[in-house]
Amino acid sequence: MMPSTNLRKRVLSGMRSTGKLHLGNYVGALDNWVRMQDEYECFFEVADWHALTTDYADTSRVKQNSLEVALDWLAAGLDPEKSVIFIQSHVPAHAELHLLFSMITPLGWLERVPTYKEQRENIKDKDLGTYGFLGYPVLQSADILIYKADVVPVGEDQVAHVELTREIARRFNGFYGQRGDVFPEPQSLLTPAPKLPGTDGRKMSKSYGNTILLTDPEPVVRQKLKTMVTDPARVRRSDPGNPDVCPVGDLHKIFSDRATMDKVNTGCRSAGIGCIECKSWAADALVQLLNPMQERREKFEENPRLAWDILEAGSERARKVAASTMDGVRGAMGMSLAYEPPAADDAK
Ligand code: TRP
Ligand code: SF4
Repeated sequence: MMPSTNLRKRVLSGMRSTGKLHLGNYVGALDNWVRMQDEYECFFEVADWHALTTDYADTSRVKQNSLEVALDWLAAGLDPEKSVIFIQSHVPAHAELHLLFSMITPLGWLERVPTYKEQRENIKDKDLGTYGFLGYPVLQSADILIYKADVVPVGEDQVAHVELTREIARRFNGFYGQRGDVFPEPQSLLTPAPKLPGTDGRKMSKSYGNTILLTDPEPVVRQKLKTMVTDPARVRRSDPGNPDVCPVGDLHKIFSDRATMDKVNTGCRSAGIGCIECKSWAADALVQLLNPMQERREKFEENPRLAWDILEAGSERARKVAASTMDGVRGAMGMSLAYEPPAADDAK
């Protein structure tokens, strides 16, 4: 069970529910979250409303995707005995806080957020000129602040969102914190993410279609490795190569043990090994990592109700914490739900 909670710093992080996770999600976030569970009081959120900001026109997969994400989390070792694992939309108070924050957030702050500018420029197949998309980081601020999180583990691309969260907290406290700060200012904790290439050598990303999924069975992993690009200088088997410029070499650096890494380094540079052999070693390392996850996932796949129950129980716990924060928020704004008799000087 959880050790005494109030001594530990509180963590909140989340992922948009976009379906099955890949190795990039694992080494960029999940792996780190699993380790943080023992040191922090953790809240992990499946951000299904955030998924809607880009996929609002077709919601048919959102719920299933949330479950898929949760299955991958549980498979990777997130533990409902240690952490609160929940679905954003099951804690409607996030929406209330988002609304209140939207009142005090200057438009200019949102228009300047780098992810906003980039995505508006890069995503052309959907109309992102919506209110919800601009407000994405305001919702994220509500996610974080409603739990008064101290620490938010995120990748580089999310740091600006946590910075905005701090600014919103500061502004809220400035307006309404007469009796002390309502919100702490959270710190982002940068996940040390090694460069993880996809099968085509570009960064592993769902939108590039170059991923290795946490759920890929061994033959699929081996097949994907076979087609993975290598150091282009190694055209023939007799040409020496360089693991430092080879995507397969990058995989070895992350997932292989020292002995294998040494064999790769010397073998590749001297043309002593072939790429096929080298790739099979990389596949071995991946299979070794993924096997226990896939075993753990089996139980939930056979009975997804178990995972849903975990999400419901987690959401219940999250709602309690969120409700208590919202009491404080409404109180600080002079808008508590309780009846208050008119003040003496009004009652002539
Ligand atoms: N925006 C985050 C991402 O795309 C997901 C997210 C939603 C999140 N709410 C959050 C991350 C709160 C940290 C804290 O990765
Ligand atoms: Fe890449 Fe391995 Fe081939 Fe070297 S031997 S180029 S590291 S796949």
